[in-house]
Amino acid sequence: MENKTVIVTGGSTGIGKATALAFAKNGYNVVISGRNNKAGEEALKEIKETGAEALFVATDVTNELDVVNLISKTKDTFKTIDVFVNNAGIAGATEGFLADSSEQNLRSLFETNVIGVFFGMKHAIKSMQEAGGGSIVNLASIAGLNGIPYAAQYCASKHAVVGLTKAAAVEYATQGIRINAIAPGAIKTDILKSAIESGSYSEETIAAIHPMKRLGTVEDIANGIYYLGSSESPFMTGHVLAVDGGYNAQ
Ligand code: NAI
Repeated sequence: MENKTVIVTGGSTGIGKATALAFAKNGYNVVISGRNNKAGEEALKEIKETGAEALFVATDVTNELDVVNLISKTKDTFKTIDVFVNNAGIAGATEGFLADSSEQNLRSLFETNVIGVFFGMKHAIKSMQEAGGGSIVNLASIAGLNGIPYAAQYCASKHAVVGLTKAAAVEYATQGIRINAIAPGAIKTDILKSAIESGSYSEETIAAIHPMKRLGTVEDIANGIYYLGSSESPFMTGHVLAVDGGYNAQ
């Protein structure tokens, strides 16, 4: 069992909550952040039931001061940050093909999925440098490695996450800071539910694009994030781990 601390942004729901639980079950102190206090407190209760020490810090990842506060509250309570999971993200509006999509949607996607991840990386790295090391896992997507129709703007934001991951991994490789990303296939969470409800996709058509012909579970992804973030992958950095039912093998 580890006596280490993980921060999971957007950790009150979906993949983030499952990731927080995976680290909690492995003995980590867990800090989750999110914008919604009620959802945060409910997730916190569930995490504490594993016996882990846990904390919720209200944070909007698009606000740099919020991210700085998240790091400093974590250090006040648990001293160091061993693992930082940049999970908070949005799918954006489904507006059609690129020529029918709006500047506003693109800006909003980049604000959360890219600038939010940049703030998390920037301040986690500074804290990890002081502590002598650490590990960062960013949430990319199959949309960060491939072109997906009706999702050009989301694809652009997730390709940017891959770029930030690889460049920073090279920059900090000799400083004990590992930086990796995970690229999930389609997972049934709130993000996907809203795309389905908008009528652009059905669950069946999304399942059909994966060779395994099913959607992934939040636990499928949480296990991959735990592997990349924990000391189980000490020689891995700058890697984008596809957990996607075979999507990238096609
Ligand atoms: P989700 O909607 O349950 O989780 C996203 C979380 O991020 C929510 O708790 C949301 O409130 C939070 N969030 C959004 N904007 C935020 C902000 N500005 N500040 C703080 N928190 C914010 O959906 P899911 O699926 O668990 O998403 C987690 C990550 O996984 C996202 O980065 C998403 O892009 C990525 N992903 C999801 C896939 C899927 O099929 N569900 C596939 C590939 C990647």
